[in-house]
Amino acid sequence: MPNPSLLILPGDGIGPEVMAEVRKIIDWFGANRGLKFDVSEDLVGGAAYDVHGVPLADETMAKAQEVDAVLLGAVGGPKYDDLDFSLKPERGLLRLRKEMDLFSNLRPAQCFDALADFSSLKKDVVAGLDIMIVRELTSGVYFGEPRGIFEEGNERVGINTQRYTESEIERAARSAFELAMRRNKKLCSMEKANVMESGVLWREVVTRVGKDYPEVELSHMYADNGAMQLVRAPKQFDVIVTDNLFGDILSDCAAMLTGSLGMLPSASLGAPMANGRPKALYEPVHGSAPDIAGQGKANPIACILSFAMALRYSFDQGAEADRLEAAVEKVLADGVRTADLLGEEGVTPVSTTQMGDAVVAALDASL
Ligand code: NAI
Ligand code: MG
Repeated sequence: MPNPSLLILPGDGIGPEVMAEVRKIIDWFGANRGLKFDVSEDLVGGAAYDVHGVPLADETMAKAQEVDAVLLGAVGGPKYDDLDFSLKPERGLLRLRKEMDLFSNLRPAQCFDALADFSSLKKDVVAGLDIMIVRELTSGVYFGEPRGIFEEGNERVGINTQRYTESEIERAARSAFELAMRRNKKLCSMEKANVMESGVLWREVVTRVGKDYPEVELSHMYADNGAMQLVRAPKQFDVIVTDNLFGDILSDCAAMLTGSLGMLPSASLGAPMANGRPKALYEPVHGSAPDIAGQGKANPIACILSFAMALRYSFDQGAEADRLEAAVEKVLADGVRTADLLGEEGVTPVSTTQMGDAVVAALDASL
């Protein structure tokens, strides 16, 4: 069996800084857990534009289609603000998502005890929170036709269309059920079947797919109630599956239950490849943070936790993913803080490198 392959695209701004710390973690698993990856590295975003004149070269795109997983840092920056829209760094990331057809976006909201004070909610509402939102990413109202601004009589009308085919709903649902099987076998589907036909179909198809997963406890909720429940009692959920629009809003809402942007990982998954693994792109939720780039201040944890997601969802290494997440938890419990996580008085922040080293030391201690 060849080693699993990983394409690393550090990108711009703090992307390369946080990715350097992830490289240490990848090396650690190779040296200590026998998990060897064939790692290659390439350019995306402004870094690719500087060399190739485009935010993602065709060869890089082709490589991304072949590897078992892509790990991306961040793209963008003020240097590229005046570029034509088609050449902007963000287009590189959009091209990856589109051509890999990554229809299922996984955003965990996990509250580390040591950071529970960072939440905008009461500590006991979020302490121990560990939920996952699965957002359909390639269809729905952001893509449906007709769309546009049209003349109608003596005024204009703005139109967007919520449109979902059964197969689009089915593949998103299946990905959420697969995820639920690897977690606590509990799935809540959110739509507005009370007022939207697309929601009626969504509920019907999710229920039908659920027949293939009898072990998973499936429930349905209207998305507006879901938003309310997420801030009232988020721990009632485990996996939530929803459409593109509701997922955009609900995942941002859930993310902020847990605190800093520097802590939030994500995965975007597509159809299974020949080897059974889904096409996959893992990346932190944050951007290239030009305000702190080059200063060694960036928190690498979001990117490190994105690699933990890769271990779990691309490489079937759930126990090793747990090990990495526990190492992060330990470092935070020990009071190690990058500047973005400062709350308490009298704590001196550590640098990006020191945070990465602390996670490696905690991994060493886990053996
Ligand atoms: P941003 O996420 O880069 O930064 C927002 C704020 O959070 C900044 O104050 C930043 O310093 C802080 N921050 C972000 N990540 C951090 C980390 N790991 N550690 C410590 N602090 C962190 O969003 P912003 O400023 O709106 O966008 C900056 C650039 O990034 C733009 O060019 C934007 O288009 C791009 N961007 C790229 C994304 C991606 O690559 N997926 C996502 C969001 C924005
Ligand atoms: Mg959003």
